[in-house]
Amino acid sequence: MTTLVVSSSAHGSTRQIAERVAQTLRDAQAIDTVVEDVSEAAVWLATADAVVVAAPVYNGRLAKDAQGFLDTRRAELTKKPLVLLVSGGAPELDADLRAKLEAYGPREIGYFRGAVVEERLGFLDKLKIKLAGARFGDFRQWDEIEHWAKSLHGHGAA
Ligand SMILES: Cc1cc2nc3c(=O)[nH]c(=O)nc-3n(C[C@H](O)[C@H](O)[C@H](O)COP(=O)(O)O)c2cc1C
Repeated sequence: MTTLVVSSSAHGSTRQIAERVAQTLRDAQAIDTVVEDVSEAAVWLATADAVVVAAPVYNGRLAKDAQGFLDTRRAELTKKPLVLLVSGGAPELDADLRAKLEAYGPREIGYFRGAVVEERLGFLDKLKIKLAGARFGDFRQWDEIEHWAKSLHGHGAA
């Protein structure tokens, strides 16, 4: 059983979440896992038994590269257990975005707060965060992420 964890991450914090999920699946469930950047992931799809796509929300939408992966690989993804992991600065996943993601038929959608690290952002992105009234910080709850990862196998999702 091999689970492919596809990671989209402009600033690295979702990648770290994806790696923690993969590590938890390996340690707790003895599942083989491969973490790949979304730009490189397609070649691994044929050999994967299950797929986790981890991606952040930017400007109210799933990161473009992850959205593109879900759209172009939809036919292959519908044949395998698919799990979506979304990270964002907001306390909860926007209901409209959740509804759009449900259309891909995932077994699970996990939402976790990510990290908005001021030093990693350019001028415009910093300005957007300030104008949106959002806060900078690392909001990742690692215990919660690991707990969720451990639950995936029981749901037949990894
Ligand atoms: C310019 C910008 C726009 C963002 N827009 C949203 C948003 O619409 N909703 C949200 O929940 N989080 C938003 N975020 C927060 C990111 O989703 C969060 O920082 C995420 O952890 C980034 O992941 P990454 O480090 O893997 O790129 C935004 C962050 C930036 C810098």
